[in-house]
Parts: sequence; C-alpha cells; structure tokens
Amino acid sequence: MITARSAEQLLEAKNKLSNYTQVVAISGDVRDEIHLLELADVLGRKGWKLDLVVNNASYLGESPMKKILEHSIDSMHLVLHTNMIAPISLLQKLQSFLNPKAKIINVSSDAAKEIYETWGIYGAAKAGLDHLTAVLGIEYPQFYFYAFDPGDMRTDMHQDAFPNEDISDRPLPQEFAVPALLQLIQKNVPSGRYSFNAKMTENYEHTNQ
Ligand SMILES: NC(=O)c1ccc[n+]([C@@H]2O[C@H](COP(=O)([O-])OP(=O)(O)OC[C@H]3O[C@@H](n4cnc5c(N)ncnc54)[C@H](OP(=O)(O)O)[C@@H]3O)[C@@H](O)[C@H]2O)c1
Repeated sequence: MITARSAEQLLEAKNKLSNYTQVVAISGDVRDEIHLLELADVLGRKGWKLDLVVNNASYLGESPMKKILEHSIDSMHLVLHTNMIAPISLLQKLQSFLNPKAKIINVSSDAAKEIYETWGIYGAAKAGLDHLTAVLGIEYPQFYFYAFDPGDMRTDMHQDAFPNEDISDRPLPQEFAVPALLQLIQKNVPSGRYSFNAKMTENYEHTNQ
C-alpha cells in the first residue's frame, strides 16, 4: 500500500511496483485524519496485514528556513504535525493490522541530533519523532521500531533547505540511503536509531535510546 499527495506521481510509482507485486495506491495528505483512516479501512476490507510501515513524508518548513523566533506559528504546526504527529497517528490507525515482528521505520535526520542554525523547528520535530520511536520500542516489544537517518540526499527537500545552492555533490537516495534502508529492513536488528553515513565502512551506527 502506497500513499502520497501527488496522485500523478503515485500512479507512476504504482505502475512500476505493479511489475513486482500487488499494489494499492491511495493519494492523500498525512495530516488529514480521514486519509489515515481510509488507509486502515482499505486494509480491513482487503484482509491485508502489514510486515512493514515506512513513515517518510516530511515538511521542512518555510524556505529559506527561519530562525526559531522568526518562524511563523502556522508553519511550526505544519512541521510538527507532518514529521512527528502524523507518523504516530498513522500507527494508531494501523496497529491492529501489524503482524507480530512487523518493522516500523520512522525516517529521521541528523538535524534531530545536531544543532544547526535555522533548522530548529524541523530538528525538534525529528528529535521528537526519534524519542517517540524509542518509547514505542519498549512499549510494543512485539514489533521493531527504527528511527532511520538516511544522510544527505539530493532531493527537492534538500534543495529547499539550500535554495540557490548547487547540491549536485549530494548522493541521490538510490545511491546509498535506499540500499541501507533495505538492509535495515532485511536484518532483524534491535529497535533503535540507525544512521547511514557514506563515509562509514559499516552502514549503520546503532544508538540505543
Ligand atoms: N534529503 C536529505 O538530505 C534528507 C536528510 C535527512 C533526512 N531526510 C528525510 O528523508 C525523508 C524523505 O525526504 P526527501 O529528502 O526524499 O524529500 P522529498 O523528496 O521532498 O520527499 C518528501 C516527501 O514528503 C511528502 N510530503 C510532505 N508533506 C506531506 C504531507 N502533508 N502529506 C503527504 N506527503 C507529504 C512530499 O510530497 P509532495 O511532493 O506532495 O510535497 C514529498 O514526496 C524525509 O523524512 C526527510 O526528513 C532527508
């Protein structure tokens, strides 16, 4: 089951994935509670169970990014909702569909741990998500909960973070981050925070929280 706001891009993804497996695609916004309920509703009607959930959707806030005291409160709500509340809201709706030992990946960022000027609100949202992921890991030991930091990636979001800068030296997601994520999914490593760093010989740095 895949979801995104852009129906056009979602259909493109669905068509590609349909070459490998059965896919249901439902477009919507992760901040829309009805959309999240709809995802659970479709799972129920299909009788599907989940081995994996990936919470990837993210909002950085206004671009160019703002210092904390200059950040609009409306945008703060959007950043915190998209990055921290929506993944938890989704899990609340999906919990009865999770198979034992299901893996839940909440995509994090180094901004959750490092202190960067103008990244405060986004960093706080990702740090909050990391914390919630760690608590979920002890509250629901029948599942694996991973906060996964994919490292810098050349994406629209990264370009929004560095407007007018050349970001062509950053790797594409498929170069390092996605293979590392696939490895994390395949290994039965303990719940925790895992970061990918292209310079490391080992793909994961595991931090128990
Ligand atoms: N790029 C990096 O360097 C980097 C570094 C560390 C962590 N990350 C994390 O990696 C993940 C993927 O980001 P990315 O870099 O690949 O950026 P991206 O290509 O811009 O992907 C972010 C996605 O989130 C979606 N999204 C935003 N708000 C949404 C909402 N309310 N409902 C549904 N979807 C929503 C966007 O959809 P629309 O197209 O509809 O806006 C977009 O597809 C994020 O969790 C990000 O925090 C990225």
